[in-house]
Amino acid sequence: MNRRAIVAANWKMNGDTKLVSSMVESLSGYVPPAHTSVVICPSYPYLALMSDKISQQGLNENIALGAQNANEHLSGAFTGEVSTNMLTEMSVKYVIVGHSERRSIYQESSEKVAEKVKVILDAGLTPILCIGESEQERIEEKTEVVLTQQLQPVVDAIGVERFKDVVVAYEPVWAIGTGKTASPEMAQATHAFIRGYFANLNEEVANKVPLLYGGSVNASNCDELFAQADIDGGLIGGASLKVDEFKVICSAAKGS
Ligand code: PGA
Repeated sequence: MNRRAIVAANWKMNGDTKLVSSMVESLSGYVPPAHTSVVICPSYPYLALMSDKISQQGLNENIALGAQNANEHLSGAFTGEVSTNMLTEMSVKYVIVGHSERRSIYQESSEKVAEKVKVILDAGLTPILCIGESEQERIEEKTEVVLTQQLQPVVDAIGVERFKDVVVAYEPVWAIGTGKTASPEMAQATHAFIRGYFANLNEEVANKVPLLYGGSVNASNCDELFAQADIDGGLIGGASLKVDEFKVICSAAKGS
């Protein structure tokens, strides 16, 4: 199966200009594994700086810039928000959307997430669509229902065909920032379910869509996780703030 791998750094509301410099310096001369994209998503204020540094170091081939959010409108009276046009101007290529922190802290519904995915795609950017169940939902064996409820509004909004240009990140909420990773077997089983969900709609899309795992991925567990058949890389939070550890994780990715 030919499917590219992606390792994306989600810095959340962390990092500073020093981290931007040290990350780009450390990645200069670094070549990711074949068919693997490395994406870094700093906070909005650092996008321009990171974009400049990536270009200066001639790293555009190896590192792509991502944002952590985008507004569903293109412009207007939306104080504090950032549009896809603005992100495009900053050379952003990927946008994280529907992260569990946005869903829970900022009450973003799956319908709102679907609107954002559409706007991001329309701008020629690649959405990294996050889905995942809470601990309680996992205990109550509702994982598959919850994932379906998160995916369906997006499929309804954009159609399954456009998922060829979407990256899906499965992040069990109970594993995010907790140090509790899903076991490779558990993560694989859930990824297989997600791929099966797409296969029921369109086999070709199912084979193509990269499915990332996220939730306490680190240098010690990335190899086993990325070795699973349906895990095509990761969305990395805490460990992506550590320059050397992030490189180890990138090197574990297996695109084909
Ligand atoms: P974590 O975060 O790696 O710190 O668990 C992952 C994420 O929230 O994307």
